[in-house]
Amino acid sequence: MASLVRRCSRSRGCSLAALLALAALASPGRLGAAAAGEGGSGGKWHVVSVSSLLPSTVCTATEAPPNPSALSVVHRHGPCSPRWSRGDPPPSHAEILGWDRERVDAIHRKVAGAAASKSANATLQAHWGKPLGTSNYFISVGLGTPARDLAVEFDTGSDQSWVQCKPCGDCYEQHDPLFDPEGSSTYSAVSCGARECREFGSRNCSSSSDDKKCRYEVSYSDQSRTVGNLARDTLALTPTATLPGFMFGCGHRDTGVFGEVDGLLGLGRGKASLASQAAAQYGVGFSYCLPSSPSTVGYLTFGAAASAPANAQFTAMVTGKHDASFYYLNLTGVRVAGRAVEVPPSAFATAAGTIIDSGTAFSRIPPRAYAALRSSFRRAMGGRYRRAPAPPPFDTCYDLAGHEAVRVPSVALAFDGGATVVDLDPSGVLYAWDSMSQACLAFAPSPDEASLGVLGNVQQRTLAVVYDVGNQKIAFGAEGCA
Ligand SMILES: *[C@@H]1O[C@H](CO)[C@@H](O)[C@H](O)[C@H]1NC(C)=O
Ligand SMILES: *[C@@H]1O[C@H](CO)[C@@H](O)[C@H](O)[C@H]1NC(C)=O
Ligand SMILES: *[C@@H]1O[C@H](CO)[C@@H](O)[C@H](O)[C@H]1NC(C)=O
Repeated sequence: MASLVRRCSRSRGCSLAALLALAALASPGRLGAAAAGEGGSGGKWHVVSVSSLLPSTVCTATEAPPNPSALSVVHRHGPCSPRWSRGDPPPSHAEILGWDRERVDAIHRKVAGAAASKSANATLQAHWGKPLGTSNYFISVGLGTPARDLAVEFDTGSDQSWVQCKPCGDCYEQHDPLFDPEGSSTYSAVSCGARECREFGSRNCSSSSDDKKCRYEVSYSDQSRTVGNLARDTLALTPTATLPGFMFGCGHRDTGVFGEVDGLLGLGRGKASLASQAAAQYGVGFSYCLPSSPSTVGYLTFGAAASAPANAQFTAMVTGKHDASFYYLNLTGVRVAGRAVEVPPSAFATAAGTIIDSGTAFSRIPPRAYAALRSSFRRAMGGRYRRAPAPPPFDTCYDLAGHEAVRVPSVALAFDGGATVVDLDPSGVLYAWDSMSQACLAFAPSPDEASLGVLGNVQQRTLAVVYDVGNQKIAFGAEGCA
């Protein structure tokens, strides 16, 4: 596999001074893990420094990437992001929770829509997605020849990639200058007659036959949308690892809550996605590690199916009846401090299934299973910490002000028969935003027992998540960003 190194210099928010100053700091947060015995049979606890739960204001990206064949993954609202270096204020906690709710609502509508239209045999709008406001992680890539640097979100929940293009009659404000097709010697518009236009373009190509260019349209259920030409150009994952003829949407009219990113890379399960397009050259599948906090950097690697870490735990990718863009897995249980919560596995097995999503922040699990998790967690936290008011969707928050370290019971997710048990990083268990006087259990219940469950990005933090598409497996490895 080619080397896909893209360093922090690409993500313009990382200052070299900050890197050098902070490279010496040990990995923040974990003071130690207390072993079995405490708090029950086989109980497992993390002792976490309280300050490490709060987002830092400096980018602590390390100089050496954890994996030499990786693109750096940066949180959109943290100090490693270009937004930050421009001095844009981070969004409020309420905004983040609101975006997250919108995304999950939209995912539920999409899945419901797919089921409904299947029975009616209607044509699904090919690229119906969801609001992007919460797709929290982005990478920097180059597009065209010569390559233009672009900061794009990546999204495992949709397939179609797109960037904003010149000329743009109606575009939202973005971080970098618009991509200019005229400025790239390798750019080509997909024509109306091309196979990929029939497959991925919008249906009314022939009616806009003035220039014989294939149109695409991605409509999101919050009224956001991007419209433009389906195109191909060279995508530079790194300066030396390129994907010639990468198919994407060149957006000329884009409206909605896209934030300020230059576009989006779809890593969904469908044929149009970058993951599928990169497969021939870099191998099937991809993997990433989402950093433990917005002030650190993770990675994204293509063709990484082969490089599942030694400690990886595999679970089956559930395929078949479900929405073709999402990656489904089979969540069967949750353990708190080493003990299974008291609810039968069937409480997790909703008819709609469970997806893993890079864009949803907080995991949603069925209400009965959530209630069991919540009571186990509260019991494990005991009376050591004051309870604090909880902003919805949370209902279990603690006031940790005045504490230097906090004992957090381990929370582990069990998949597919219980053979795969994935221990979450403490940053995926207790979530704090503004201050330590409100640190919340970072899960939420689904709207009802039948709804799709979502494994969100907060719970994926620091795990190596391997999408072994060839073998239809998903693997999780501990300390994936280390
Ligand atoms: C559904 O629509 C497709 C395409 O029009 C058609 O080929 C197929 O026969 C239809 N299936 C049913 C069950 O009506
Ligand atoms: C398809 O045609 C309709 C009506 O002419 C137009 O409003 C719409 O923007 C077109 N879609 C694209 C993607 O060009
Ligand atoms: C999920 O796992 C459970 C327990 O192993 C099993 O009974 C069920 O059939 C699985 N569901 C799917 C969709 O694979």
